[in-house]
Amino acid sequence: MDQSGAIDNLLQEERVFRPLPQLVIEANVNPQELEGARKFAAMDPTGYWEEAADELDWFKKWDQVLDDKDAPFYRWFPGARCNIVYNALDRHIETANKNKLALIWEGEPGDQRKYTYFELYREVNRFANALRSLGIRKGDRVVIYMPPLPETVIAMLAAAKIGAVHSVVFAGFSAKALRKRINDAQAKLLITSDGFYRNGRIISLKETADEALVGACADCVEAMVVVRRCNIGVDMVDGRDFQYEDLVRQERNEAPTEVMDADDPLFLLYTSGTTGTPKGVVHSHGGYMVGVHRTLTTVFDIKPTDIFWCTADPGWVTGHSAGIYGPLMAGTTSVMYEGHPNYPQADRLWSIVAKYGVTIFYTAPTMIRMLMRFGAQYPKQHDLSSLRLLGTVGEPISPEAWIWLYKNIGRSECPVLDTWWQTETGMFMISPLPISVLKPGSVTKALPGVEVDVVDRDGNPVPPGKGGLLVVTAPWPSMMTGLWNDDDRFKEYWSQIPGVYYAGDVARRDEDGYIWIQGRADDVINIAGHRIGSAELEAAFGVHPAVCECAAIGVPDQIKGEAAKAFVMLNDGFEPGDELIKDLKKTIRNELGPVAVIKSIEFRDSLPKTRSGKLMRRVLKAEENGFEIGDLTGLDDD
Ligand code: WTA
Repeated sequence: MDQSGAIDNLLQEERVFRPLPQLVIEANVNPQELEGARKFAAMDPTGYWEEAADELDWFKKWDQVLDDKDAPFYRWFPGARCNIVYNALDRHIETANKNKLALIWEGEPGDQRKYTYFELYREVNRFANALRSLGIRKGDRVVIYMPPLPETVIAMLAAAKIGAVHSVVFAGFSAKALRKRINDAQAKLLITSDGFYRNGRIISLKETADEALVGACADCVEAMVVVRRCNIGVDMVDGRDFQYEDLVRQERNEAPTEVMDADDPLFLLYTSGTTGTPKGVVHSHGGYMVGVHRTLTTVFDIKPTDIFWCTADPGWVTGHSAGIYGPLMAGTTSVMYEGHPNYPQADRLWSIVAKYGVTIFYTAPTMIRMLMRFGAQYPKQHDLSSLRLLGTVGEPISPEAWIWLYKNIGRSECPVLDTWWQTETGMFMISPLPISVLKPGSVTKALPGVEVDVVDRDGNPVPPGKGGLLVVTAPWPSMMTGLWNDDDRFKEYWSQIPGVYYAGDVARRDEDGYIWIQGRADDVINIAGHRIGSAELEAAFGVHPAVCECAAIGVPDQIKGEAAKAFVMLNDGFEPGDELIKDLKKTIRNELGPVAVIKSIEFRDSLPKTRSGKLMRRVLKAEENGFEIGDLTGLDDD
């Protein structure tokens, strides 16, 4: 199925799926309660979020729920004092959750590690003490360049516990991309592992981390902590590098939790925008914890008996909110898997679901499309009857993929919860609940307390059936509190269409008010659910001496949803050819890392431009795809 076909289907899809009566009876939020919550939140939004905040523990409550005097620099819960780690770990130690499993981790070779809340709490405390003895203090930035390991979770929580600001960088980024993020964040500490297992191979990370530090800003990183995962020999720099295991061994099991202001930063997470430089999205302790806790527990109907598996890597926001912070705050048991979903064969995920009795499985459409290709015989080999809810995120899901998931994984019983949100929103924004009537391919409606609209470029709502821009019209607690060191770029989210938050997505609302997301409206390519900016790719191509100019666009890809295609104009003296294509792809890998997949490269003598010399990527997109996502009826294109 190509993307244009998928989009046509999205426009025509009319099937509806109703929840089984049993599910409605057992749900934490029933349909009347959902309606009630929507009404309450619409009448009294701050009251609604205040009630959500009351479900968590605070060292001191707020003076006010929302301060919007300095919008768009909204401040949630000003005056309050808290720490998300208190809610994710400390408070569980006082309850029956103490000896419940917090984390079940499986390595790609099949090794397992399990942590109860009490065990995880103590590990975090030991590493928090180690961080303090390395001189890390409240407000310092700590970059975590790690695969999905228990220590990744421990490092994030330990940093947050002492008030440091973590920034996880996906292990698929290159040394240069890592260095860029370290420099921008002015990080004081880098945490990594010797390597990790992926598709049967050992991928070394420490070397890449070393390379990143060469040429990193002189007064940033003072130390590097290395977790031993693969037992491969690594060069340790005396006085700079520390073995994780040596550091924690000598530390105490208790560590004080730093008391933070609600809007003190918790983490930075870099994401791509429309310029060549990634932006450091900032989330803070108070608002983020309230938004994530309320939406995760509502959408996924978390029960004490659940085993929750979010397949996202901790390097993305989904890994933060739905992989780590959300489930821990909810006191549920999470599953984490280190490796490739098809290793050693295409039933690995289903074997994990069956082995641990996973009840809620949250993944990305790209994963479903990949597994679909291998066929239903793989899930059939395993007992998946423990599953009760399914979820997807990151890109539009085609009705085909939705139905495949529903039938083959969910026994035509488990609702598929398609959640729309972003790094910037921190929490789920538009999503069904298990009790909702579902339409495959639609994210349904905004959650209680969230106000969205589909508008034209002037901000006027577009009628049902017409494409428009997705905007959020009221502040929400886990909204980013800023972009690291870049207030101007932060304000752009609110100035594109004055007064509302511009999400950068094209969407449509149907006659029932259901929302259908159709893709990005801007020059951001969504490759396998990961955002890469056209400008970022073009800048990376520009590093190669052969490249005079380049335009990068997203093109449909059967598995990845979108992949990148580059149109390259060569400098004099360079000849197009396979060798050059290989070399250019190597440059991209070097500049950005394997995460930036280039599907094809085409050489051109000229590139389409406006009279003022601005690259017209949309012309190439229309040529290539035969349609243009950003040019749907109802939007005047400038
Ligand atoms: C896209 C991921 C369609 C969208 C949590 C958004 C989606 C971008 C969905 C954010 C969905 C996310 N249906 N598209 N359910 N969820 N997107 O920051 O284009 O990595 O703007 O956050 O992914 O990507 P990000």
